[in-house]
Amino acid sequence: MRIVIASSEAVPFAKTGGLADVVGGLGKALARRGHDVTLVLPYYRQLMAEEIPRRPTGRFVEIPMRGQRVRAGVVESQLPGSQVRVLLIDHPHYFDRPGLYVEDGSDYPDNCERFCAFSRFVMEAAKMFRLQPDVIHCNDWQTGLIPALQQIEYRSRPGFEQTAAVLTIHNMAFQGSFWGLDMELTGLDESYFNWRQMEHYGRLNLLKSGIVFSDALTTVSPTYAREIQTAEFGCGLEGVLQHRAEALTGILNGIDVDLWNPDTDPAIPMPYSRETVSVGKAFCKKRLQERFNLPQQPKIPLCGMISRMSEQKGFDLIEEIAGELMQQDVQLAFLGTGEKEYEAFVRELAARCPDKVAATIGFDESLAHQIEAASDIYLMPSRFEPCGLNQMYSQAYGTVPAVHAVGGLADSVIDCTPESLADRVATGFQFQTYDAAAFLTRLRDALDAYRDDAVWDVLVENGMSCDWSWDRSAEEYEQVYAQARASLNPSC
Ligand code: ADP
Ligand code: GLC
Repeated sequence: MRIVIASSEAVPFAKTGGLADVVGGLGKALARRGHDVTLVLPYYRQLMAEEIPRRPTGRFVEIPMRGQRVRAGVVESQLPGSQVRVLLIDHPHYFDRPGLYVEDGSDYPDNCERFCAFSRFVMEAAKMFRLQPDVIHCNDWQTGLIPALQQIEYRSRPGFEQTAAVLTIHNMAFQGSFWGLDMELTGLDESYFNWRQMEHYGRLNLLKSGIVFSDALTTVSPTYAREIQTAEFGCGLEGVLQHRAEALTGILNGIDVDLWNPDTDPAIPMPYSRETVSVGKAFCKKRLQERFNLPQQPKIPLCGMISRMSEQKGFDLIEEIAGELMQQDVQLAFLGTGEKEYEAFVRELAARCPDKVAATIGFDESLAHQIEAASDIYLMPSRFEPCGLNQMYSQAYGTVPAVHAVGGLADSVIDCTPESLADRVATGFQFQTYDAAAFLTRLRDALDAYRDDAVWDVLVENGMSCDWSWDRSAEEYEQVYAQARASLNPSC
Protein backbone atom coordinates (compact mmCIF):
# COMPACT_ATOMS: atom_id res chain seq x y z
CA MET A 1 0.00 0.00 0.00
CA ARG A 2 1.03 3.61 -0.49
CA ILE A 3 0.70 5.19 2.94
CA VAL A 4 1.13 8.83 3.88
CA ILE A 5 1.50 9.44 7.61
CA ALA A 6 0.80 13.00 8.71
CA SER A 7 2.01 13.93 12.15
CA SER A 8 3.18 16.88 14.20
CA GLU A 9 5.95 14.77 15.82
CA ALA A 10 8.11 11.74 15.05
CA VAL A 11 11.26 10.31 16.58
CA PRO A 12 14.05 11.23 15.92
CA PHE A 13 12.93 14.48 14.27
CA ALA A 14 10.80 16.13 16.96
CA LYS A 15 9.32 14.86 20.21
CA THR A 16 7.29 16.07 23.15
CA GLY A 17 5.75 12.71 24.10
CA GLY A 18 4.63 9.26 23.04
CA LEU A 19 3.09 10.38 19.74
CA ALA A 20 6.61 10.84 18.38
CA ASP A 21 7.74 7.34 19.42
CA VAL A 22 4.61 5.78 17.93
CA VAL A 23 4.73 7.52 14.56
CA GLY A 24 8.44 6.71 14.13
CA GLY A 25 8.03 3.08 15.21
CA LEU A 26 4.88 2.39 13.20
CA GLY A 27 6.27 4.04 10.06
CA LYS A 28 9.38 1.88 10.19
CA ALA A 29 7.39 -1.30 10.82
CA LEU A 30 5.02 -0.61 7.91
CA ALA A 31 7.96 0.02 5.57
CA ARG A 32 9.61 -3.21 6.74
CA ARG A 33 6.41 -5.00 5.86
CA GLY A 34 6.76 -3.83 2.27
CA HIS A 35 4.59 -0.70 2.19
CA ASP A 36 5.58 2.50 0.51
CA VAL A 37 5.53 4.95 3.44
CA THR A 38 5.93 8.73 3.34
CA LEU A 39 5.90 10.67 6.58
CA VAL A 40 5.06 14.38 6.45
CA LEU A 41 6.18 16.57 9.36
CA PRO A 42 6.64 20.28 10.05
CA TYR A 43 10.25 21.42 9.71
CA TYR A 44 10.75 22.68 13.26
CA ARG A 45 13.71 24.56 14.70
CA GLN A 46 14.34 21.56 17.01
CA LEU A 47 14.80 19.43 13.93
CA MET A 48 17.05 21.87 12.13
CA ALA A 49 19.65 21.29 14.83
CA GLU A 50 19.48 17.48 14.59
CA GLU A 51 22.26 15.71 12.74
CA ILE A 52 19.97 13.95 10.31
CA PRO A 53 20.80 14.23 6.60
CA ARG A 54 18.22 16.18 4.60
CA ARG A 55 18.11 18.12 1.35
CA PRO A 56 15.83 20.79 -0.05
CA THR A 57 13.74 19.41 -2.90
CA GLY A 58 13.59 22.84 -4.56
CA ARG A 59 9.81 22.41 -4.74
CA PHE A 60 7.19 24.57 -3.04
CA VAL A 61 3.64 23.88 -1.97
CA GLU A 62 1.02 26.61 -1.86
CA ILE A 63 -2.22 26.86 0.06
CA PRO A 64 -4.97 29.40 0.59
CA MET A 65 -4.97 31.08 4.03
CA ARG A 66 -7.32 33.96 4.88
CA GLY A 67 -7.70 35.00 1.28
CA GLN A 68 -3.94 34.95 0.58
CA ARG A 69 -1.67 32.33 -0.98
CA VAL A 70 0.88 30.95 1.50
CA ARG A 71 3.94 29.05 0.32
CA ALA A 72 6.21 26.50 2.02
CA GLY A 73 9.36 24.75 0.89
CA VAL A 74 9.66 20.99 1.04
CA VAL A 75 12.79 19.42 2.49
CA GLU A 76 13.37 15.70 2.03
CA SER A 77 14.88 13.26 4.50
CA GLN A 78 14.59 9.67 5.60
CA LEU A 79 13.62 7.98 8.84
CA PRO A 80 16.98 6.59 10.02
CA GLY A 81 17.31 2.82 9.65
CA SER A 82 14.36 2.53 7.30
CA GLN A 83 13.00 3.08 3.82
CA VAL A 84 10.51 5.67 5.08
CA ARG A 85 10.67 8.87 3.07
CA VAL A 86 10.18 12.03 5.13
CA LEU A 87 8.88 15.30 3.71
CA LEU A 88 9.41 18.31 5.95
CA ILE A 89 7.20 21.32 5.47
CA ASP A 90 9.48 24.32 5.65
CA HIS A 91 7.57 27.43 6.66
CA PRO A 92 9.81 29.39 9.05
CA HIS A 93 7.08 31.73 10.28
CA TYR A 94 4.99 28.78 11.48
CA PHE A 95 7.65 26.32 12.55
CA ASP A 96 11.01 27.95 13.21
CA ARG A 97 10.20 28.60 16.87
CA PRO A 98 11.64 27.46 20.21
CA GLY A 99 8.69 25.15 21.01
CA LEU A 100 6.47 22.80 19.05
CA TYR A 101 3.15 24.00 20.49
CA VAL A 102 4.01 25.91 23.65
CA GLU A 103 6.51 28.57 24.73
CA ASP A 104 7.06 29.69 28.33
CA GLY A 105 4.08 27.67 29.45
CA SER A 106 1.58 29.19 26.98
CA ASP A 107 0.23 27.74 23.75
CA TYR A 108 1.19 29.69 20.64
CA PRO A 109 -1.84 31.90 19.96
CA ASP A 110 -1.80 30.92 16.26
CA ASN A 111 -1.73 27.13 16.78
CA CYS A 112 -5.00 26.78 14.91
CA GLU A 113 -3.58 28.58 11.88
CA ARG A 114 -0.27 26.69 12.07
CA PHE A 115 -1.85 23.26 12.03
CA CYS A 116 -4.69 24.06 9.63
CA ALA A 117 -1.95 25.27 7.28
CA PHE A 118 0.15 22.18 7.96
CA SER A 119 -2.84 19.93 7.16
CA ARG A 120 -3.33 21.69 3.83
CA PHE A 121 0.42 21.53 3.09
CA VAL A 122 0.30 17.74 3.63
CA MET A 123 -2.43 17.39 1.00
CA GLU A 124 -0.59 19.64 -1.44
CA ALA A 125 2.68 17.77 -0.88
CA ALA A 126 0.88 14.48 -1.60
CA LYS A 127 -0.35 16.05 -4.84
CA MET A 128 2.93 17.66 -5.86
CA PHE A 129 5.00 14.52 -5.24
CA ARG A 130 2.30 12.36 -6.91
CA LEU A 131 2.09 10.11 -3.86
CA GLN A 132 -1.39 8.84 -4.85
CA PRO A 133 -1.94 7.50 -1.34
CA ASP A 134 -4.15 4.50 -0.62
CA VAL A 135 -4.28 5.80 2.93
CA ILE A 136 -3.56 9.08 4.66
CA HIS A 137 -2.98 8.25 8.30
CA CYS A 138 -3.57 11.30 10.50
CA ASN A 139 -2.63 11.64 14.16
CA ASP A 140 -4.37 13.77 16.79
CA TRP A 141 -5.96 17.18 16.41
CA GLN A 142 -2.96 18.74 14.68
CA THR A 143 -3.84 16.77 11.54
CA GLY A 144 -7.56 16.50 12.33
CA LEU A 145 -8.48 18.79 9.45
CA ILE A 146 -7.05 16.39 6.86
CA PRO A 147 -9.98 13.91 6.72
CA ALA A 148 -12.35 16.85 6.08
CA LEU A 149 -10.06 18.20 3.34
CA GLN A 150 -9.91 14.75 1.76
CA GLN A 151 -13.71 14.23 1.80
CA ILE A 152 -14.69 17.75 0.83
CA GLU A 153 -11.99 19.00 -1.55
CA TYR A 154 -9.54 16.34 -2.63
CA ARG A 155 -11.55 13.14 -3.23
CA SER A 156 -12.62 14.41 -6.64
CA ARG A 157 -9.04 15.27 -7.66
CA PRO A 158 -6.72 12.96 -9.61
CA GLY A 159 -4.61 10.83 -7.28
CA PHE A 160 -7.04 11.07 -4.36
CA GLU A 161 -10.14 9.23 -5.64
CA GLN A 162 -9.26 6.02 -3.79
CA THR A 163 -7.59 7.57 -0.78
CA ALA A 164 -8.96 6.59 2.62
CA ALA A 165 -8.41 8.92 5.59
CA VAL A 166 -7.63 7.19 8.89
CA LEU A 167 -7.32 9.09 12.16
CA THR A 168 -5.55 7.81 15.25
CA ILE A 169 -6.56 9.42 18.53
CA HIS A 170 -3.65 9.45 20.96
CA ASN A 171 -5.31 11.53 23.65
CA MET A 172 -8.88 12.83 23.97
CA ALA A 173 -7.70 15.51 26.38
CA PHE A 174 -6.14 17.50 23.53
CA GLN A 175 -8.78 18.41 20.96
CA GLY A 176 -7.58 21.47 19.10
CA SER A 177 -10.57 23.48 20.26
CA PHE A 178 -10.52 27.11 19.06
CA TRP A 179 -13.00 29.95 18.94
CA GLY A 180 -15.60 29.75 16.19
CA LEU A 181 -14.16 32.57 14.12
CA ASP A 182 -11.12 30.37 13.43
CA MET A 183 -13.34 28.36 11.06
CA GLU A 184 -12.07 30.79 8.45
CA LEU A 185 -8.56 29.31 8.83
CA THR A 186 -9.73 25.90 7.61
CA GLY A 187 -10.61 27.40 4.23
CA LEU A 188 -13.77 25.28 4.21
CA ASP A 189 -17.28 26.60 3.73
CA GLU A 190 -18.96 28.02 6.86
CA SER A 191 -21.77 25.51 6.39
CA TYR A 192 -19.50 22.77 7.84
CA PHE A 193 -19.45 24.69 11.11
CA ASN A 194 -22.41 22.84 12.58
CA TRP A 195 -22.83 20.52 15.57
CA ARG A 196 -22.75 17.36 13.47
CA GLN A 197 -19.42 18.20 11.80
CA MET A 198 -16.80 20.72 12.87
CA GLU A 199 -18.42 22.71 15.64
CA HIS A 200 -18.56 21.68 19.29
CA TYR A 201 -20.46 23.93 21.68
CA GLY A 202 -19.80 27.02 19.61
CA ARG A 203 -16.11 26.30 19.02
CA LEU A 204 -14.15 24.91 16.12
CA ASN A 205 -12.99 21.43 17.17
CA LEU A 206 -10.32 19.88 14.96
CA LEU A 207 -10.30 16.48 16.69
CA LYS A 208 -14.06 16.22 16.29
CA SER A 209 -13.70 17.16 12.60
CA GLY A 210 -11.23 14.32 12.20
CA ILE A 211 -13.51 11.86 13.99
CA VAL A 212 -16.48 12.84 11.86
CA PHE A 213 -14.79 12.86 8.45
CA SER A 214 -12.32 9.97 8.63
CA ASP A 215 -13.07 6.64 6.95
CA ALA A 216 -11.70 4.70 9.92
CA LEU A 217 -10.67 5.65 13.42
CA THR A 218 -8.23 4.07 15.78
CA THR A 219 -7.03 4.75 19.25
CA VAL A 220 -3.99 3.40 21.02
CA SER A 221 -5.37 0.58 23.19
CA PRO A 222 -8.49 -1.60 23.22
CA THR A 223 -9.47 -0.46 26.74
CA TYR A 224 -9.16 3.23 25.84
CA ALA A 225 -11.33 2.58 22.76
CA ARG A 226 -14.12 1.53 25.14
CA GLU A 227 -13.39 4.17 27.77
CA ILE A 228 -13.63 7.15 25.39
CA GLN A 229 -17.20 6.26 24.57
CA THR A 230 -18.12 7.12 28.17
CA ALA A 231 -18.57 10.52 29.82
CA GLU A 232 -15.72 9.79 32.24
CA PHE A 233 -13.05 9.56 29.52
CA GLY A 234 -14.62 11.02 26.37
CA CYS A 235 -13.81 14.65 27.29
CA GLY A 236 -17.16 15.77 25.87
CA LEU A 237 -16.81 13.89 22.57
CA GLU A 238 -18.18 10.57 23.86
CA GLY A 239 -21.43 11.01 21.92
CA VAL A 240 -19.55 11.61 18.65
CA LEU A 241 -17.44 8.51 19.31
CA GLN A 242 -20.47 6.39 20.17
CA HIS A 243 -21.94 7.49 16.86
CA ARG A 244 -18.80 6.26 15.07
CA ALA A 245 -18.27 3.18 17.26
CA GLU A 246 -18.42 0.87 14.22
CA ALA A 247 -15.45 2.64 12.65
CA LEU A 248 -13.33 2.72 15.86
CA THR A 249 -10.62 0.13 16.67
CA GLY A 250 -8.25 0.07 19.65
CA ILE A 251 -4.73 -1.02 18.69
CA LEU A 252 -2.11 -1.24 21.42
CA ASN A 253 1.07 0.69 20.60
CA GLY A 254 4.30 -1.20 20.13
CA ILE A 255 7.80 -0.06 21.06
CA ASP A 256 10.71 0.55 18.73
CA VAL A 257 13.10 -2.19 19.78
CA ASP A 258 15.90 -0.61 17.74
CA LEU A 259 15.79 2.28 20.22
CA TRP A 260 14.51 0.67 23.42
CA ASN A 261 16.50 -2.50 23.96
CA PRO A 262 18.75 -2.78 27.04
CA ASP A 263 21.06 -5.10 25.14
CA THR A 264 21.99 -2.52 22.50
CA ASP A 265 21.12 0.80 24.17
CA PRO A 266 24.08 3.19 23.71
CA ALA A 267 22.70 5.57 26.38
CA ILE A 268 23.08 3.19 29.32
CA PRO A 269 26.37 2.50 31.13
CA MET A 270 26.21 -1.30 30.83
CA PRO A 271 24.07 -3.12 28.30
CA TYR A 272 22.26 -6.21 29.55
CA SER A 273 19.91 -8.95 28.46
CA ARG A 274 17.50 -11.29 30.21
CA GLU A 275 20.45 -13.47 31.17
CA THR A 276 22.58 -10.63 32.54
CA VAL A 277 19.92 -8.30 33.95
CA SER A 278 20.92 -8.64 37.60
CA VAL A 279 24.51 -7.57 36.94
CA GLY A 280 23.63 -4.98 34.28
CA LYS A 281 20.84 -3.32 36.22
CA ALA A 282 22.92 -3.24 39.41
CA PHE A 283 25.65 -1.38 37.52
CA CYS A 284 23.22 1.05 35.86
CA LYS A 285 21.61 1.68 39.27
CA LYS A 286 24.95 2.36 40.91
CA ARG A 287 25.86 4.87 38.20
CA LEU A 288 22.52 6.65 38.47
CA GLN A 289 22.78 6.82 42.27
CA GLU A 290 26.25 8.26 41.79
CA ARG A 291 25.03 10.84 39.28
CA PHE A 292 22.25 11.94 41.61
CA ASN A 293 24.24 11.77 44.84
CA LEU A 294 21.93 9.16 46.27
CA PRO A 295 23.43 6.65 48.72
CA GLN A 296 24.93 3.85 46.62
CA GLN A 297 23.09 1.02 48.27
CA PRO A 298 22.29 -1.84 45.93
CA LYS A 299 19.41 -3.27 47.98
CA ILE A 300 17.28 -0.13 48.28
CA PRO A 301 14.50 -0.25 45.71
CA LEU A 302 14.84 2.58 43.21
CA CYS A 303 11.55 3.84 41.75
CA GLY A 304 11.69 5.80 38.49
CA MET A 305 9.23 8.13 36.80
CA ILE A 306 9.77 9.89 33.46
CA SER A 307 6.79 11.93 32.52
CA ARG A 308 5.01 15.01 31.39
CA MET A 309 4.12 16.59 34.71
CA SER A 310 0.39 16.92 34.37
CA GLU A 311 -2.77 15.85 36.11
CA GLN A 312 -3.09 12.99 33.59
CA LYS A 313 0.01 11.31 34.95
CA GLY A 314 -1.16 11.01 38.56
CA PHE A 315 1.16 13.51 40.22
CA ASP A 316 -1.62 14.38 42.67
CA LEU A 317 -1.42 10.81 43.99
CA ILE A 318 2.36 10.94 44.20
CA GLU A 319 1.99 14.17 46.17
CA GLU A 320 -0.52 12.55 48.53
CA ILE A 321 1.60 9.50 49.29
CA ALA A 322 4.99 11.26 49.36
CA GLY A 323 5.04 11.72 53.16
CA GLU A 324 4.28 8.06 53.73
CA LEU A 325 6.73 6.93 51.06
CA MET A 326 9.53 8.93 52.66
CA GLN A 327 9.15 6.72 55.76
CA GLN A 328 10.09 3.69 53.67
CA ASP A 329 13.44 2.38 52.58
CA VAL A 330 13.17 3.62 49.02
CA GLN A 331 14.76 5.96 46.46
CA LEU A 332 12.89 7.97 43.81
CA ALA A 333 14.22 9.36 40.52
CA PHE A 334 12.01 11.83 38.65
CA LEU A 335 12.53 13.25 35.16
CA GLY A 336 9.93 15.54 33.63
CA THR A 337 8.57 18.93 32.76
CA GLY A 338 5.11 20.40 32.74
CA GLU A 339 2.82 22.12 35.19
CA LYS A 340 4.70 24.46 37.50
CA GLU A 341 2.89 23.14 40.57
CA TYR A 342 4.19 19.58 40.03
CA GLU A 343 7.65 20.72 39.02
CA ALA A 344 7.84 22.67 42.29
CA PHE A 345 6.55 19.69 44.26
CA VAL A 346 9.21 17.23 43.03
CA ARG A 347 11.94 19.86 43.32
CA GLU A 348 10.98 20.57 46.93
CA LEU A 349 10.72 16.87 47.75
CA ALA A 350 14.24 16.33 46.40
CA ALA A 351 15.52 19.32 48.38
CA ARG A 352 13.86 18.04 51.56
CA CYS A 353 14.99 14.42 51.16
CA PRO A 354 18.22 14.52 49.13
CA ASP A 355 19.22 11.03 50.24
CA LYS A 356 15.98 9.59 48.91
CA VAL A 357 14.79 11.71 45.99
CA ALA A 358 16.43 12.99 42.81
CA ALA A 359 14.52 15.31 40.48
CA THR A 360 15.51 16.52 37.03
CA ILE A 361 13.23 19.13 35.52
CA GLY A 362 13.75 19.10 31.78
CA PHE A 363 13.55 16.90 28.72
CA ASP A 364 16.48 14.50 28.39
CA GLU A 365 16.18 11.49 26.09
CA SER A 366 19.39 9.85 27.21
CA LEU A 367 18.61 10.26 30.92
CA ALA A 368 15.20 8.71 30.25
CA HIS A 369 16.96 5.56 29.03
CA GLN A 370 19.28 5.59 32.03
CA ILE A 371 16.40 5.84 34.51
CA GLU A 372 14.55 3.00 32.78
CA ALA A 373 17.66 0.82 33.03
CA ALA A 374 18.56 1.76 36.61
CA SER A 375 15.14 1.57 38.28
CA ASP A 376 13.68 -1.47 39.98
CA ILE A 377 10.11 -0.18 39.98
CA TYR A 378 8.47 2.25 37.55
CA LEU A 379 5.64 4.48 38.81
CA MET A 380 2.75 5.15 36.45
CA PRO A 381 -0.32 6.03 38.53
CA SER A 382 -2.00 7.84 35.60
CA ARG A 383 -5.54 9.11 36.11
CA PHE A 384 -6.14 8.11 32.47
CA GLU A 385 -3.68 6.69 29.96
CA PRO A 386 -4.60 6.11 26.31
CA CYS A 387 -1.71 3.68 25.94
CA GLY A 388 1.47 4.75 27.72
CA LEU A 389 4.89 3.63 26.58
CA ASN A 390 7.06 3.71 29.68
CA GLN A 391 5.31 0.71 31.24
CA MET A 392 6.37 -1.26 28.15
CA TYR A 393 9.88 0.20 28.07
CA SER A 394 10.08 -0.71 31.76
CA GLN A 395 9.16 -4.34 31.19
CA ALA A 396 11.71 -4.57 28.37
CA TYR A 397 14.34 -3.17 30.77
CA GLY A 398 13.46 -5.53 33.65
CA THR A 399 11.83 -2.71 35.62
CA VAL A 400 8.56 -3.67 37.26
CA PRO A 401 5.72 -1.19 36.64
CA ALA A 402 3.23 -0.13 39.31
CA VAL A 403 0.24 1.32 37.44
CA HIS A 404 -3.36 2.46 37.68
CA ALA A 405 -5.42 -0.17 35.80
CA VAL A 406 -6.72 2.15 33.12
CA GLY A 407 -6.46 2.44 29.31
CA GLY A 408 -3.34 0.92 27.84
CA LEU A 409 -1.89 0.28 31.30
CA ALA A 410 -4.68 -2.24 31.94
CA ASP A 411 -3.91 -3.86 28.56
CA SER A 412 -0.14 -4.12 28.90
CA VAL A 413 0.62 -4.93 32.56
CA ILE A 414 -0.39 -8.27 34.05
CA ASP A 415 -1.18 -7.78 37.71
CA CYS A 416 0.83 -9.79 40.20
CA THR A 417 -1.43 -12.22 42.09
CA PRO A 418 -0.61 -15.64 43.52
CA GLU A 419 -2.21 -17.17 40.39
CA SER A 420 -0.50 -14.97 37.79
CA LEU A 421 2.82 -15.54 39.57
CA ALA A 422 2.34 -19.30 39.58
CA ASP A 423 1.40 -19.17 35.88
CA ARG A 424 4.56 -17.11 35.26
CA VAL A 425 2.66 -14.32 33.50
CA ALA A 426 2.68 -11.55 36.16
CA THR A 427 4.63 -8.47 35.03
CA GLY A 428 3.65 -5.67 37.43
CA PHE A 429 1.29 -4.22 40.02
CA GLN A 430 -2.05 -2.62 39.27
CA PHE A 431 -4.39 -0.64 41.48
CA GLN A 432 -8.02 -0.37 40.47
CA THR A 433 -9.45 2.73 42.13
CA TYR A 434 -7.84 6.09 41.49
CA ASP A 435 -6.99 7.08 45.03
CA ALA A 436 -3.88 7.49 47.15
CA ALA A 437 -4.69 4.66 49.56
CA ALA A 438 -5.13 2.12 46.75
CA PHE A 439 -1.90 3.26 45.09
CA LEU A 440 0.06 3.13 48.33
CA THR A 441 -1.22 -0.34 49.20
CA ARG A 442 -0.15 -1.71 45.84
CA LEU A 443 3.18 0.08 45.96
CA ARG A 444 3.84 -1.49 49.35
CA ASP A 445 3.06 -4.88 47.79
CA ALA A 446 5.62 -4.11 45.09
CA LEU A 447 8.23 -3.10 47.68
CA ASP A 448 7.58 -6.32 49.63
CA ALA A 449 7.91 -8.36 46.46
CA TYR A 450 11.21 -6.62 45.70
CA ARG A 451 12.61 -8.02 48.94
CA ASP A 452 11.72 -11.57 47.88
CA ASP A 453 14.21 -12.59 45.19
CA ALA A 454 12.20 -15.63 44.11
CA VAL A 455 9.17 -13.46 43.31
CA TRP A 456 11.10 -10.54 41.88
CA ASP A 457 13.16 -12.62 39.48
CA VAL A 458 9.96 -14.07 38.02
CA LEU A 459 8.43 -10.61 37.54
CA VAL A 460 11.57 -9.30 35.85
CA GLU A 461 11.93 -12.37 33.65
CA ASN A 462 8.25 -12.29 32.61
CA GLY A 463 8.43 -8.61 31.69
CA MET A 464 11.62 -9.03 29.70
CA SER A 465 10.12 -11.98 27.80
CA CYS A 466 7.19 -9.93 26.43
CA ASP A 467 7.28 -9.03 22.75
CA TRP A 468 6.28 -5.38 22.34
CA SER A 469 7.74 -4.98 18.87
CA TRP A 470 5.68 -3.08 16.31
CA ASP A 471 5.01 -5.98 13.94
CA ARG A 472 1.87 -7.21 15.69
CA SER A 473 0.32 -3.74 15.85
CA ALA A 474 1.41 -2.89 12.30
CA GLU A 475 -0.55 -5.89 11.07
CA GLU A 476 -3.65 -4.59 12.86
CA TYR A 477 -3.18 -1.18 11.23
CA GLU A 478 -3.02 -2.90 7.83
CA GLN A 479 -6.41 -4.44 8.55
CA VAL A 480 -7.86 -1.09 9.49
CA TYR A 481 -6.42 0.49 6.31
CA ALA A 482 -7.97 -2.31 4.22
CA GLN A 483 -11.37 -1.84 5.90
CA ALA A 484 -11.20 1.91 5.42
CA ARG A 485 -10.49 1.42 1.71
CA ALA A 486 -13.23 -1.16 1.37
CA SER A 487 -15.68 1.28 2.94
CA LEU A 488 -14.87 3.79 0.17
CA ASN A 489 -15.52 1.35 -2.56
CA PRO A 490 -17.17 -1.91 -1.52
CA SER A 491 -15.75 -3.70 -4.58
CA CYS A 492 -12.06 -3.11 -3.57
P1 ADP B 1 2.58 10.78 26.79
O1 ADP B 1 2.68 10.68 25.32
O2 ADP B 1 1.20 10.88 27.30
O3 ADP B 1 3.45 11.83 27.36
P2 ADP B 1 3.77 8.09 26.78
O4 ADP B 1 4.03 7.14 27.89
O5 ADP B 1 3.02 7.58 25.63
O6 ADP B 1 3.10 9.39 27.42
O7 ADP B 1 5.14 8.59 26.16
C1 ADP B 1 5.99 9.46 26.79
C2 ADP B 1 7.33 9.45 26.05
O8 ADP B 1 8.01 10.65 26.32
C3 ADP B 1 8.24 8.33 26.49
O9 ADP B 1 9.13 8.01 25.44
C4 ADP B 1 9.01 9.00 27.65
O10 ADP B 1 10.23 8.34 27.90
C5 ADP B 1 9.20 10.37 27.07
N1 ADP B 1 9.38 11.44 28.04
C6 ADP B 1 8.43 12.05 28.79
N2 ADP B 1 8.98 13.04 29.54
C7 ADP B 1 10.29 13.05 29.24
C8 ADP B 1 11.41 13.84 29.67
N3 ADP B 1 11.24 14.81 30.55
N4 ADP B 1 12.63 13.58 29.14
C9 ADP B 1 12.78 12.58 28.24
N5 ADP B 1 11.78 11.80 27.80
C10 ADP B 1 10.56 12.04 28.28
C1 GLC C 1 -0.59 10.14 24.09
C2 GLC C 1 -1.05 9.39 25.31
C3 GLC C 1 -0.21 8.16 25.64
C4 GLC C 1 0.13 7.39 24.38
C5 GLC C 1 0.77 8.30 23.36
C6 GLC C 1 1.15 7.58 22.07
O1 GLC C 1 0.31 11.13 24.36
O2 GLC C 1 -1.15 10.21 26.44
O3 GLC C 1 -0.91 7.34 26.54
O4 GLC C 1 1.00 6.32 24.68
O5 GLC C 1 -0.12 9.33 23.02
O6 GLC C 1 0.05 6.96 21.47
